[in-house]
Amino acid sequence: MKIMVIVAHPNLKGSRANQALAHELNNYPDIYVRDLYQEYPNWEIDVEREQRTLLLFDRIVFQFPFYWYSCPPLLKKWFDDVLTYGWAFGPGGDHLKGKQYIIATTTGGPENGYRSGGSNWFTISELLRPIQTTLTRCNGTYLPAFVTYNADQATDDYLLQEAKKYVDHIQAPERVLVH
Ligand SMILES: Cc1cc2nc3c(=O)[nH]c(=O)nc-3n(C[C@H](O)[C@H](O)[C@H](O)COP(=O)(O)O)c2cc1C
Repeated sequence: MKIMVIVAHPNLKGSRANQALAHELNNYPDIYVRDLYQEYPNWEIDVEREQRTLLLFDRIVFQFPFYWYSCPPLLKKWFDDVLTYGWAFGPGGDHLKGKQYIIATTTGGPENGYRSGGSNWFTISELLRPIQTTLTRCNGTYLPAFVTYNADQATDDYLLQEAKKYVDHIQAPERVLVH
C-alpha cells in the first residue's frame, strides 16, 4: 500500500508535536511525507500536480495541529482547490474512487475535554465531520483518526511513544482499523 502524508503546520520547524510525528516518519522511506506550508509559501497550490500526485497513492494521511476545531487554513485551501467538481466529485469525478484517508491531529486540550459535557463538548470524531464528509463525497474511505491529545504539555518521551503509535496506525490495514 502506497502512503502519502501531507503535513500542514504553519511552522513545522517551531513545532514539537507535529515535528515529532513527522520525524518518526523519516524511518519509513516508503512513506512519502510532505510539508504543505513549505511547498506553498505563497499559497498558490499547483492543482494539476496535486491531482497527479494523489493518483499515485492508496492512502492519504492529513497531519495537522487542531486549530479552532479544524485544520490550519492552507490545508482547507488545498481541499478547496484540489478536490474539484468533475474530477474529485460530481459527473466524471471519480478519480479518487477507493482512496483511503486518515486524519492525524494534535490538540492542545486534554482528551477528557473532547466529550459530551467536557470543555469542548464534542468528540474529535464529531468535530472532524466536515473533513470526513468532504472526503467521502469524493468517493473515499474515511478511516479512524489518530489523535495526540494534550500536545502542549507533552514530554519528549510521550511524543516519541505517540509517534510510534502514529506510524503503526497509518500503516495498519483497513480491517485492523475498522472494527
Ligand atoms: C490558532 C490556534 C488554534 C488552536 N485551536 C485549538 C483547538 O481548537 N483545540 C485544541 O485542543 N487546541 C488548539 N490549539 C492548540 C494546538 O492544537 C496545539 O498547540 C498543537 O496541536 C501542538 O502541536 P505542535 O507542537 O505541533 O504545534 C490551537 C492553537 C493555535 C495556535
